[in-house]
Amino acid sequence: MSSIPAATRPLTAIRPETPGDFASIEALHEKAFGPGRFAKGAYRVRERADPVPELAFVATDAGTLIGSVRFSRVTIGGESALFLGPLAIDPAFAGQGLGVALMVQSLAFAEGLSATCCVLVGDLAYYARVGFKPVPPGRVVFPAPVDPARLLWHPLNRPEDTAPPVGNLEGARVA
Ligand SMILES: CC(C)(COP(=O)(O)OP(=O)(O)OC[C@H]1O[C@@H](n2cnc3c(N)ncnc32)[C@H](O)[C@@H]1OP(=O)(O)O)[C@@H](O)C(=O)NCCC(=O)NCCS
Repeated sequence: MSSIPAATRPLTAIRPETPGDFASIEALHEKAFGPGRFAKGAYRVRERADPVPELAFVATDAGTLIGSVRFSRVTIGGESALFLGPLAIDPAFAGQGLGVALMVQSLAFAEGLSATCCVLVGDLAYYARVGFKPVPPGRVVFPAPVDPARLLWHPLNRPEDTAPPVGNLEGARVA
């Protein structure tokens, strides 16, 4: 057995998403989330939001797409922010660090955009690995029912000890 961690094997790579990846990503989302994904509050947000192509990355293994991360543009109380998701890794490649690697890559690029923070709906125990924290109560109003403990944020272009903007989270379009 190789002593090289699986996620660093030469065959596994992270690269920007391209239009040719769309069908493979849709199939991955179906496998990772199932048909119930369309009913989730996060999808309601994305329906009204523009994607952020420069933050969309995929993981491949020997050329086959095995992971994807995307972001959408939102505003919180009128301030520009990013909404992380969907993040999905093919179950056959779970636990190899690919989910974290995709987020580290995209969040590094996100620092270069004019957004106050990144928010998502997900498990704190996982997303804390890349610095996400719970949104303090009463700051961000999500446009669909959501477990407040799963509404997480990550500051961008500002110190770690700041708070997210206050107000309604809404999907945003690029003018
Ligand atoms: C969640 C998901 C993206 C994780 O991807 P991954 O590449 O397997 O994750 P990583 O290898 O980077 O990290 C694995 C570690 O995170 C932990 N982890 C994975 N999902 C977790 C969760 N929901 N809550 C807490 N910990 C989690 C694993 O137990 C593992 O822990 P270890 O390092 O102590 O062994 C992937 O399992 C997936 O696509 N799941 C289905 C879709 C989904 O739920 N997406 C996220 C929406 S909230």
